[in-house]
Amino acid sequence: MENGNGREQWQTQLGFVLAAIGSAIGLGNIWRFSYMAYSNGGGAFLIPYLFALFTAGIPLLILEFALGHERMGSAPLACTRVKRGWEWLGWWAVTLVMFGIELYYVVIIAWCVCYFFLSFSLGWGADPNAYFFKHFLALSKSAGQIGVIRTPILAALIAVWVINWGIVYRGVGKGLEKANKIFMPLLFIFTAILVFWSLTLPGALDGIKAYLTPNLSKIMEPKVWIDAYSQIFFTLSLGFGIMIAYASYLPGKSDLTKNAVITAGVNCGYSLFAGFAVFSVLGFMAASQGKSIADVVSQSIGLAFVAYPKAVSMMPGGPLFGAIFFLCLVMAGISSSISIMEAFVSAIVDKFNVGRKMTVSVVSAIGVIGSLIFTTQAGLYWLDIADHFLTHYGIVVVGILEAIMVGWFFDTKHLRRYINKNSTMRLGAWWDVTVKFVVPLVLGIILLGDISKEVQKPYGGYGWTPVVLIGLNWVLSTVIAGFLFASRPWKDKCPLEVPRENQED
Ligand code: ALA
Repeated sequence: MENGNGREQWQTQLGFVLAAIGSAIGLGNIWRFSYMAYSNGGGAFLIPYLFALFTAGIPLLILEFALGHERMGSAPLACTRVKRGWEWLGWWAVTLVMFGIELYYVVIIAWCVCYFFLSFSLGWGADPNAYFFKHFLALSKSAGQIGVIRTPILAALIAVWVINWGIVYRGVGKGLEKANKIFMPLLFIFTAILVFWSLTLPGALDGIKAYLTPNLSKIMEPKVWIDAYSQIFFTLSLGFGIMIAYASYLPGKSDLTKNAVITAGVNCGYSLFAGFAVFSVLGFMAASQGKSIADVVSQSIGLAFVAYPKAVSMMPGGPLFGAIFFLCLVMAGISSSISIMEAFVSAIVDKFNVGRKMTVSVVSAIGVIGSLIFTTQAGLYWLDIADHFLTHYGIVVVGILEAIMVGWFFDTKHLRRYINKNSTMRLGAWWDVTVKFVVPLVLGIILLGDISKEVQKPYGGYGWTPVVLIGLNWVLSTVIAGFLFASRPWKDKCPLEVPRENQED
């Protein structure tokens, strides 16, 4: 389906909301959130988390929806329609996400696919820790020792790329919308099964207690606030350029504020809910082994691929439980990874006026090649470093710049009037203040805190060489790519004027 300007459109409003929720709910919600909450003061983490949601999450989500809808374009087109010199920002967002985050994100989905199959036979054996690091990843000693490509991971990776390709290739309505209409209800049903099942396990309540008991002394630590803000950014797919592209496919009359509140509410509610399954299982494991919860919780990646498999092996009906758990991760992951692809594809189609199908195929082929490094024996090191830099210094910086661009180089009042015209929940002047001052200031302080920590010692104990060569270089290369894309001329199909119906009455 296309609108009067030849732009593809969602078939229904529900389709759009499900796709936005599908993008938001991803690998990060199921285990990253739980681990973050636990290590940052349990129930007390909800205070900075909700603070971040209201001071940056929801206002920026509304801003991204409004930008895409009102300027009617993918991130680069929307940015250039705001102010000519800002096109590069849109390109930076979609490039850093597509040729940064996406490349390792699909590899984690590939691990989940492998673990889905392993679940049926509890194929990780008696020692899931040794299995994951020594056998499955065959992890080398350092980031510089690439070793060989792990074939089972490669096979799953190709399957994931083919699925992504197949969905995005079919377009907005027939591909993305349909896929999310299938994945999202299934994901909710399966997650509910996991939560209720896990609550019946012995020791579950101790796990829940550990998850929710507030440790209020923690919220005085700056790290807790940095974690809360970066979690909100990652989980709502903010600064990815996705929500801009998705909103550009909405029909003229769309309730932007309500859609943003629903997307953020369902996403954060899902995280909280899924946390019950994660912690009930950890409680069960602690009780079965006579250990404390602190002893069975491990680092975020270890939580899904080490601690969980261990618990699955011990519980009655474990193979089925494990299969459902990893299937949930695969579905949540795919609905996010297709949204990342779409953000980039829609930018290329807008700018160069090339066909979607051809673009999707080329982008997928480059994607497979780009992902290969993460399937090698040093893959986990590369993934960890790239993830740290791209999320901390990529998407958060995009978010700050977006707020500055709209707040200081565009008319927030105009955008707010536009949003309010079709929205049931009306935005007050607080939104302008948030975009202009609160977001840049709060995120700016957080960023400075982060940088000052960064320069004191190399991230994760890797040493300066891999941190600079992989992390810093990756971020810088995507900035340069952003400027290069922006320097190319626009093809005529996409006039730089904002479509008339969206201009001020
Ligand atoms: N929003 C997606 C996630 O949480 C990227 O995984």
